[in-house]
Amino acid sequence: MNMEARIRGIGMTSRRTRIRLANRLQAAGINDEAVLDAIIATPRHLFVDEALESRAYEDCSLPIGEGQTISQPYVVALMTQLVLNSSQAGKPVRNVLEIGTGSGYQAAVLAHLVDQVYTTERISSLATRANDRLRRLGYSNVRTSYNDGVNGWTEKAPFDAIVVTAAMEEIPDGLLQQVRDGGVLIGPIGPQSKSQQLSLVRRFADQPARYEQIEGVRFVPFVSGRC
Ligand SMILES: C[S@@+](CC[C@H](N)C(=O)[O-])C[C@H]1O[C@@H](n2cnc3c(N)ncnc32)[C@H](O)[C@@H]1O
Repeated sequence: MNMEARIRGIGMTSRRTRIRLANRLQAAGINDEAVLDAIIATPRHLFVDEALESRAYEDCSLPIGEGQTISQPYVVALMTQLVLNSSQAGKPVRNVLEIGTGSGYQAAVLAHLVDQVYTTERISSLATRANDRLRRLGYSNVRTSYNDGVNGWTEKAPFDAIVVTAAMEEIPDGLLQQVRDGGVLIGPIGPQSKSQQLSLVRRFADQPARYEQIEGVRFVPFVSGRC
């Protein structure tokens, strides 16, 4: 099958199956049409191993190797919706940094909706695989980096939004500083061995950050250092 045909998919990986997933996400509370369109446009079956392709449009997380997971589509859609809705004074969200590339799926969904996505991953094999996949699929507005996300991506800061897709006990020093004045950091905060609160933290240059808890989630841990 050529790449075009693989992206379209057939049967359990077809566009019709993606539309059914989007309908389920809408019923679960995702109401931003642009986010639902991005879910339909992103071939999640190409972000998991072939053996799991037929399960790619179930609303659940799946293993991607190295003890890590591709997040549940509902959580990806929710975080994406929070990013888009975070814009203020009519200014669109243009650049987003993701910490925790994993399979590259969250970065790909975001890439349909913002100008530029930066994404960083601490596990070498995952970073390489995700970068190859995103290049093959033509996501030219995603830049990947094999790095410890604790450092953010200083050269490209500030960001309109930072999305963290691993569980943090607390937000690492310095990461929030890479969010522009009025921008947001979105991610799971709480004990790494239990569930966390998906949180939206709005940073201000001249006053303390404002924390908002969105809902309970369960993510793999945020870990320091590359491997
Ligand atoms: C739930 S998975 C991410 C799913 C991913 N967003 C996707 O769409 O497939 C969490 C990822 O965060 C990565 N991670 C954990 N701590 C990190 C850190 N300090 N810096 C960068 N990546 C980190 C893990 O290695 C893992 O790949």
